[in-house]
Amino acid sequence: MLDSTRLRGIIPPICTPLTSEGAIDVPSVHRLIDYLLANGVHGVFAFGSTGECTSLTARQRETMLAAVIAAVHGRAPVLIGVMDTSTERVIEQGLAAKAAGADALVVANTILAMAIDLQTFKPCLGNVMGGLSGPAVKPIVLRQVYQCARTVRIPVIGCGGISTTEDAVEYLLAGATAVQVGTATFVQPAAMTTIIDGLTKFCERRELDRISDLIGAVINEEADEPELAWVAPRS
Ligand SMILES: Cc1cc2nc3c(=O)[nH]c(=O)nc-3n(C[C@H](O)[C@H](O)[C@H](O)COP(=O)(O)O)c2cc1C
Repeated sequence: MLDSTRLRGIIPPICTPLTSEGAIDVPSVHRLIDYLLANGVHGVFAFGSTGECTSLTARQRETMLAAVIAAVHGRAPVLIGVMDTSTERVIEQGLAAKAAGADALVVANTILAMAIDLQTFKPCLGNVMGGLSGPAVKPIVLRQVYQCARTVRIPVIGCGGISTTEDAVEYLLAGATAVQVGTATFVQPAAMTTIIDGLTKFCERRELDRISDLIGAVINEEADEPELAWVAPRS
C-alpha cells in the first residue's frame, strides 16, 4: 500500500511511446523513465498524458503497464491512469494495475468528446474530437472512483470536474485518497488552495478530526432497485 508521504513533489503524466507499427516501444519507456527519475521527479504517472490512454488496446495497456513497473523498479511511486466508460473495464484496468504492482490509481482523465458548429456544420475542434473535462465529467468520474475504491483496494486519486470544496468532499466520500484539480484552475487560479482551506473548514463544521475521516465514508443504504445499483464490493 502506498505510504501517503511518498505522494509528493512532481509526478508527471508520461506519454506512451509507440513504434511506427503501433506497438508499445518498450526500450523508449525505459529511456523515458530513467531520464525522468535521473532528473528528480518524485513519481511516474502512466496512462495519462497526450490522450492516447483512451485509445490503447487491452494488449497495449498490458505491455505498457509491465514496462512501466519494470522500468521504475521500485525507485519511485507509480500511478496508473484508469479511463474507460464501461464499469467492467474500469475495474479490470484497476485490478490489472494493482496486480502489476502499481502504487495508486488516477481515476480518470478527460473523456473523448465532440461538438459541431451549427453555422458551418463543421466540428468545433480542429482535431474533430477532444478531451472533455470540467464539471460535466464529475458525476461519471465520481462513479468510477467509487467503483475502483471499493474493488481495487489501492489508493485512488480522483480527478474530473473538481471545482469546489464540496466536489472534493464528494470524491473523498466516494473513496478517493487524494484529488487532482485541472480545469477549475483556468477559471480560478487559486482553486486548489481554496479547496484545501475549504476542506479544513468543512471538517471543523462537521466536527471531524481529520480530512482522511471522509475517505470512503459514503453511506450505502439498500438501493431501491438493487439489480440496477452497483453497490457490493467484489473483493
Ligand atoms: C488543457 C488541458 C490539458 C491537459 N493536459 C493533460 C496532459 O498533458 N496529461 C494528462 O494526463 N492529462 C491532461 N489533462 C487532463 C487533466 O489532467 C484531467 O485529467 C482532466 O482535465 C479532468 O480533470 P478536470 O476536470 O479537473 O480538468 C489536460 C486537461 C486539460 C483541460
